[in-house]
Amino acid sequence: MPLSHRSTLTQFLIEERRRFPSASGDFNALILDVALACKAIARAVALGELGGTLGNHTGENGDTVNVQGETQKKLDVLSNEVFIRRTEWAGHLGGMASEEMDLPYQIPAQYPRGKYLLVFDPLDGSSNIDVNVSVGSIFSVLRVPKEAEKSGRDVTETDFLQLGAQQVAAGYALYGPTTMLVLTVGDGVNGFTLDPNLGEFMLTHPKIRVPEETHEFAINASNSRFWEPPVKRYVDECLAGKTGVRAKDFNMRWIASMVAEAHRILMRGGVFMYPRDTKDLSKPGRLRLLYEANPIGMLMEQAGGRASTGRQAMLSVQPTSLHQRVGLVFGSKNEVERLERYHTEPVEEVLSNPLFAERSLFRE
Ligand code: AHG
Ligand code: MN
Ligand code: MN
Repeated sequence: MPLSHRSTLTQFLIEERRRFPSASGDFNALILDVALACKAIARAVALGELGGTLGNHTGENGDTVNVQGETQKKLDVLSNEVFIRRTEWAGHLGGMASEEMDLPYQIPAQYPRGKYLLVFDPLDGSSNIDVNVSVGSIFSVLRVPKEAEKSGRDVTETDFLQLGAQQVAAGYALYGPTTMLVLTVGDGVNGFTLDPNLGEFMLTHPKIRVPEETHEFAINASNSRFWEPPVKRYVDECLAGKTGVRAKDFNMRWIASMVAEAHRILMRGGVFMYPRDTKDLSKPGRLRLLYEANPIGMLMEQAGGRASTGRQAMLSVQPTSLHQRVGLVFGSKNEVERLERYHTEPVEEVLSNPLFAERSLFRE
């Protein structure tokens, strides 16, 4: 399609808004500010060593560590700053929360407060940044609780503890060979590619759908000894391929950038698993509910896929803290449902499965 015929992100948002004649335009303006933040981060990521932004972020006492106990990269901190500065001023937000900030961010007093909350992972997959592998930013938009909006009071952690099903919008930017923005405003999923000449996100992937069937799975197999039986069973059956109960060969991928895996799955199907495991019982999973699992969960569901903890639909999990971790499985619907089914079958049944007991590649 000629470039002149493609919609820009701005045009797309304005056309979407026509469905809600009473909408103020705040939401669209917020998304455009987020998109600008993503363009700025894309530039910083693309410059790499030339921009002096690779490596760990250091403070007075050496490398800095976020609330998760993870060493922060320079680009984690810079991306967080870009998200804040590009969105705090406009009067659309009542507050923000991010992987890189222990507490909710309050909109500074000199700016008006608005009706949305922005929750984000400013740079996902940042362990990949120094090796030039794709990373991205993930975001989720919630509403400020009515009473807080009315009073204009500071936001609290509790204000953010909303079900994934209550998200107004979710999306991510992927800084890969091309920069893309993939967005849902609750009416399907649309993908935009950054035209570097125009500096505009152009609609290139309208109405993305996740294929229901797949033969591709993604999991960090180095954790296999910590997996729970339903996960071991599922992976074993995939590995058994044509000769096993699944009667087809599977392919495996692991990028260690969840946002890049989510994108691959939106494009061609597949299943991603970072399940709850027994590695560290104080951590119920690796990934975080509010700014990783919920936005990706909304995108998957809006594209006809599914996202789950393995036991429960992700979007129905009641959050209990800002940085809560959760087991996460998402992707092609039939595979996610299969894994959920395995979680409901009694463990004895799983262990007595001949494939699991005799031929398991991951048997303890
Ligand atoms: P982040 O960089 O925001 O901390 O997230 C990294 C996440 C996710 O992107 C990826 O899937 C996972 O960590 C990789 O974990 P492993 O290092 O265990 O493979
Ligand atoms: Mn992340
Ligand atoms: Mn991150």
